[in-house]
Amino acid sequence: MFDGFVPVASATEFAPGQMRWVAVDGARVVLANVDGAFYALSDVCGHRNAPLSRGKLEGYLIECPLHFAQFDVRTGELVNGPVSTPVAVYEVRVEAGTIYIKR
Ligand code: FES
Repeated sequence: MFDGFVPVASATEFAPGQMRWVAVDGARVVLANVDGAFYALSDVCGHRNAPLSRGKLEGYLIECPLHFAQFDVRTGELVNGPVSTPVAVYEVRVEAGTIYIKR
């Protein structure tokens, strides 16, 4: 439908404040709904590779479950924590109730 975008989920599966991982070309991507807007970032923390989808989502912050690094879901930038690398983010589009992520 959109160049390079793949359908990953229905928007109705995510209430505001919820997140879970989805597969995009074999990679784990965490998809989060913040106040009705969707954000996607790599589901791998750059510190010790913990799955961010097992952590907490509070506002625009996603917190790693292992050592509690916090990243901004909008940019992947580190806000707090024992890691110096940001997390990769992916472009997201929603069309007719389907969420697409750019691979
Ligand atoms: S594995 Fe994420 S902060 Fe250590």
